[in-house]
Amino acid sequence: MHIQTSFLGTLSDFFHIISVGLVFVLIFGGWAFHWRIVREKDPQLRSYVSRWSSTIGFLWPFVAICLLVTGIGDIYYRSSGTGLHWYDEGWLVAKLIFFVILVVNGSVFGSILGRKRTQLLQFMNEQQSPEIAEPTLKSLNRQFSWHYLVQFLLLAIIIFLSTIGSGKQFGIS
Ligand code: HEM
Repeated sequence: MHIQTSFLGTLSDFFHIISVGLVFVLIFGGWAFHWRIVREKDPQLRSYVSRWSSTIGFLWPFVAICLLVTGIGDIYYRSSGTGLHWYDEGWLVAKLIFFVILVVNGSVFGSILGRKRTQLLQFMNEQQSPEIAEPTLKSLNRQFSWHYLVQFLLLAIIIFLSTIGSGKQFGIS
């Protein structure tokens, strides 16, 4: 089992865990906003919540960079002096692939869906008969629910790979 003894390595790991917390805020916070929009009947409030939800989505690139930088730091301090490369560790390669899917899903597909729904809700808010757009809204809401389900699953897989794979806990290393 590998034990990290370097101070900078511990610091990098510390900020990595903080960045992981930010991902939780993005995914669980985004889902909470989504849930509020689905249940809310007041068009004005729905439109307002949707704008906030899109603001959260804009944080994806920033959080992804934090994770990438601290993750690279972790890789560096984890493997320094061992002769090990990041691509030698299967769990890490798998984790990076799932990470890329998570980030693309969050920052590209999530923000496209968010933009469409915010525009639609704004339109519904300004119209005399907003019910004509109700089927489109239902379809967007359904796509969003699937989007968050996929994000939850990806996050669970990444956490699983990180804890079991890193060899600090019982498991493969
Ligand atoms: C959503 C994205 C990510 C999540 C949720 C995540 C989560 C975690 C967690 C929970 C740990 C265990 C920390 C510990 O036991 O101290 C960890 C460790 C680690 N992560 Fe990440 N991580 C993510 C992205 C990344 C990325 C992008 C990289 C690489 C560029 C990376 C590289 C590492 C490495 C090398 C370790 C092992 C550190 C060690 O051995 O102490 N992670 N990650």
